[in-house]
Amino acid sequence: MKILGIETAVDESAAAVVEDGYRVLSSVVSSQAEIHQKYGGVVPELAARNHVATIIPTIDLALAKAHTKLSDIDCMAVCTTPGLVTALLVGIETARTFGCVMQKPIIAINDLESHAFACWLEDEELFRKTQRKENWPMIYLIVSGGTTQLFLANYFGEFRSLGQTLDDAVGEAFDKVAKMLNLGYPGGPIIEKTALKGNVEAYKFPRPMLHSKDLNFSFSGLKTAVLYKIKELQKISSRQIADLAASFQQAAIDVLVKKTLQAADEYRVKAIAVGGGVAANNFLRNNFQQKSRVPVYFPLKKYCTDNAAMLAGCAYYYAQKKIFTPLDKIKPFCYQNIKGKTIDNST
Ligand code: KG4
Repeated sequence: MKILGIETAVDESAAAVVEDGYRVLSSVVSSQAEIHQKYGGVVPELAARNHVATIIPTIDLALAKAHTKLSDIDCMAVCTTPGLVTALLVGIETARTFGCVMQKPIIAINDLESHAFACWLEDEELFRKTQRKENWPMIYLIVSGGTTQLFLANYFGEFRSLGQTLDDAVGEAFDKVAKMLNLGYPGGPIIEKTALKGNVEAYKFPRPMLHSKDLNFSFSGLKTAVLYKIKELQKISSRQIADLAASFQQAAIDVLVKKTLQAADEYRVKAIAVGGGVAANNFLRNNFQQKSRVPVYFPLKKYCTDNAAMLAGCAYYYAQKKIFTPLDKIKPFCYQNIKGKTIDNST
């Protein structure tokens, strides 16, 4: 079964063709990062206008790379939540139009769920393992520029939130700390690289909510503590920049790992799947592998940040059960659930 994924949630126009849930025939991502860089964040109107210009060529390229015609696609997966409303609408209306013209069914996908599915893209063995119910439940940890959230998943399509950040997302904290240190954007990869030369124990930064009983997170206090330390140091050397990056990164990772393992113990899960841009971080990966008693899955790095392959991979489970989203129900902030219901969070 071939599924075409379409993604326009924030500042990436993406399209992909995935076969049978894990075989990626093509994955094309057209990033707008350069356009938004000078504003220090994504400008929604600019994002939507650029999606309008790029989404059709992006889909064309994904189909060409997959040596597939639109008529050979079995169904389409479109990201409907979370995201910027005007940006989401471009992908949704594109999918709806193709759906009407080509008579292809569509599945409205929750991007957060699909981030976990990125873990078994291109990994047939893991894909087959996750088909078996005895390897569930799982904890999903989704860590990106806009989200830090833990989910309990009993099986494909059956997931519920256990906790989330009460303020900044962890990726946002990486981006802001990089900005404070004049390292550039996006901050995550630069902080990680800079931290390689630093000492994680040089500065004692707080681990917010590390001992709270719930499964929520908070990163704004950690970010502010870094700001105060920078002010206190006044003129900082490159050695101190590396130490600040390393100490900040370790503090953020300590909280992510501890809370996720707490959730894994509490719900006696069989595995943990980590997704989202921050899942590309090697320190996070190593910390999990060292401390977890259950297997921890990570996507290939190219599938950590937003992409359409994970949407198409996720949609496979719905398509197999012939669960599609009616054309008149697809809109921003709705998504399909495995019981056949379209959840509408738009109001
Ligand atoms: O999933 P994504 O594309 O989502 C959003 O757009 O929200 O993730 C982007 C985020 C950025 O905040 C970026 O700094 C962070 O993921 N990121 C990383 C790394 N690579 C990307 N954070 C830490 N370490 C990395 N290696």
